[in-house]
Amino acid sequence: VEAQENRHAVLGADLTVPIVTGETVRYANLDYAATSPCLAAVAEAVNEVLPWYASVHRGAGLPSMRCTELYEQARHTVHRFLGCRPDDIVIFVRNSTDAANLLARAVPPETTVVAFEGEHHANLLTWRRSVILPLPATAAQAVAQLDAALHALRQGERPPAAVLERTDGPDDRPTSTAPILVSVTGASNVTGELWPVAELAEVAARHDARVALDAAQLAVHQPVDVASLGVDYIFLSGHKLYAPFGCGVLAGRADWLDRGTPYLAGGGAARFVDLREGTVRWASGPARHEAGTPNLIGALALGRACELVMDMDREALVADEERLLSALVTGLAEIPGTHRLRIFSDQRPYVGIAAFVVDQVPSSLLATALAAEYGIGVRDGLFCAHTLTRTLLSRIGDGSHRGAARASVGIGTTPEHVERLLTGVRELAEKGPQWKYAERDGRLVPDPDLRH
Ligand SMILES: Cc1ncc(COP(=O)(O)O)c(C=O)c1O
Repeated sequence: VEAQENRHAVLGADLTVPIVTGETVRYANLDYAATSPCLAAVAEAVNEVLPWYASVHRGAGLPSMRCTELYEQARHTVHRFLGCRPDDIVIFVRNSTDAANLLARAVPPETTVVAFEGEHHANLLTWRRSVILPLPATAAQAVAQLDAALHALRQGERPPAAVLERTDGPDDRPTSTAPILVSVTGASNVTGELWPVAELAEVAARHDARVALDAAQLAVHQPVDVASLGVDYIFLSGHKLYAPFGCGVLAGRADWLDRGTPYLAGGGAARFVDLREGTVRWASGPARHEAGTPNLIGALALGRACELVMDMDREALVADEERLLSALVTGLAEIPGTHRLRIFSDQRPYVGIAAFVVDQVPSSLLATALAAEYGIGVRDGLFCAHTLTRTLLSRIGDGSHRGAARASVGIGTTPEHVERLLTGVRELAEKGPQWKYAERDGRLVPDPDLRH
């Protein structure tokens, strides 16, 4: 009952997990950036609709009509949540990776995508033809680098600072008038730092380039407004936004999306088919890219999560997360031999994510010991942003760190979770792990592991 009344309640908040000593402790989930827990009110919305569950856009029965309505309502809610322009379309996909792949196939074939090296792989490996710019030292440098790169592309020249150019097709250089899409993340999934999205969008507009915003990490922490940011496309994942039911979103300008090849061919995406005549007429709008039976539960959950978050006091939410993160970052800085990863040398605002390393304690051991000895969940490795993370690691000490640990917070994180993490990191840095660990299938595991 309490959970029903509390719009901030997340499922799993009272989860207990065994640790290696045989004790059981409350799980401290500090891995929101990978996947956030489910808001209890989202799960309730899903449970309420399940007895009515029926096909979307496909049935004449009343439950079917109802489900279709709910699905389309969820689309409207997401549109509002993202601050989209009236003509923007919202397409339900599986996650951010799916959204980026859809966009990559929908943009005109001669489009060059410009991205920085600091991107998540979903926003780096996806594009058919891309120019990758080096990691900037400051936000101002990012803006200047983009300006120079777009200027060169508009002259039909190679961008001066490009780290590399990738193309899946012929190597010929696109003409100076070919479409350009700048794709940038709102908040780094490694460091949590905010990229100067509005400034980059302004530069892009000056060079007649469009902008896609990877909001996978941003939208969960801060209000996002597509129209005022001046971006053309945006994408995110429901499972990072308290709605883990397999749904994400790509939203933005309709023209390229309406002209692009349907992402999935099949029922729902075709308006008219007569194969004997050789006629297939594809739908426009979201339906063009949403073939197959839609993920009603995922869309409904995502819409409900957006509604709930919009109804929360977002300033207070941001302030809460800032307090938690600042306690975490300050606490880490006080532990000798601990280094936080940062992209920008100037102070950038950041969301609830911090990646760090501890000298003499490999990140895989750190993360495994935090879970096994303290009941804490963090992520370790290179965070699907190998180039970025390796570059940042190479700047630390003698550059020998091979991975980092990442802690991330959100709705449901408590000060005790952060304190426990700091205690764990401090003890591991000072005394090393108190248990033995062995490598099994490429991962460290407690040896013996008494948790099962
Ligand atoms: C910034 C960013 N972009 C894209 C993705 C890909 O999201 P998904 O795995 O949900 O497709 C992630 C996931 O970690 C991310 O952090």
